Amino acid sequence: MEPFQEHLKDYQQVINEKLFGYVNRHINPGRVRDAIIHSIEAGGKRVRPILLLSTMEAFGVDYTRGYTAACALEMVHTYSLIHDDLPAMDNDDMRRGQPTIHKAFDEATAILAGDALLTLSFQVISEDSNLTSDEKVFLTRELSRASGGAGMVDGQMLDMRSEGKQVSIDELKSIHMNKTGQLLSFAIVAGAYLSHTTSETFQKIENLANVLGLIFQIQDDILDVLGDADAIGKPVGSDEGNDKSTYPQLLGIEGAIREMNEYMDVALHSLEQTGLNNTFLAELVDFLSTRDR
Ligand code: IPE
Ligand code: IPE
Ligand code: MG
Ligand code: MG
Ligand code: MG
Repeated sequence: MEPFQEHLKDYQQVINEKLFGYVNRHINPGRVRDAIIHSIEAGGKRVRPILLLSTMEAFGVDYTRGYTAACALEMVHTYSLIHDDLPAMDNDDMRRGQPTIHKAFDEATAILAGDALLTLSFQVISEDSNLTSDEKVFLTRELSRASGGAGMVDGQMLDMRSEGKQVSIDELKSIHMNKTGQLLSFAIVAGAYLSHTTSETFQKIENLANVLGLIFQIQDDILDVLGDADAIGKPVGSDEGNDKSTYPQLLGIEGAIREMNEYMDVALHSLEQTGLNNTFLAELVDFLSTRDR
């Protein structure tokens, strides 16, 4: 295996171990826990927690102090997917190669499993004895802001409201920045904060944080058109079926790729400016734009 793939796998393993630990310790045995385990066991790339930890690794600090923030972020992300798949939202039957929670269990369980994951995320941060009080406040504030009504939830609402409509490229950009961008941005911002970077470095790495979501969601939208359902573990053609506004729908595949490459230039420039261009983090950013799953 290539060193990049091996390192990715090591990160995935440690995140999975921690996630199972938190869920088994803090969620009572029963249907909600079973549904959460179903969702975590199904897999998932763990891109967000790995971005957070590898930002710390790139800055040369002990990234084990980022474990709770990383897992909290993956919990919020997993909750957002469980709700995103619900019949009232995207109405998808497959996720991470497995039946979605409302299919494997039922809708009420899917809603409650999402609720339990969201709230557990803030619990694990607040209970982490390796973090200072200031760090806990920062992480809780930034994660709640990124997840809520001025972040992911707002983006999801705008995404639903734009179904069947022709939106402008600027409107689409703002949907993507909120529904996907803010959680990905949290990964970089939290990683840089826990690395105690200077404010100058922090500002430069924020440019990477700001474009990551666009890069990621454009590739997600491209894969919804060109991807292989078995490889991505979820249905293709979901966006067209729901009449979603996406980059491929607005600009065509070529236009979407061109747009993504422009954001990649910003990302690479930010990595160079912060001296992080020869790191695992830089390889990971590249992987996000070329991934096939
Ligand atoms: C899918 O996210 C949802 C988007 C925001 C595009 P991922 O592609 O990271 O999903 P998993 O966690 O690997 O299943
Ligand atoms: C989902 O975007 C974004 C969030 C869950 C916040 P999509 O609806 O495109 O994600 P997939 O394609 O179902 O994974
Ligand atoms: Mg959606
Ligand atoms: Mg969806
Ligand atoms: Mg999608």
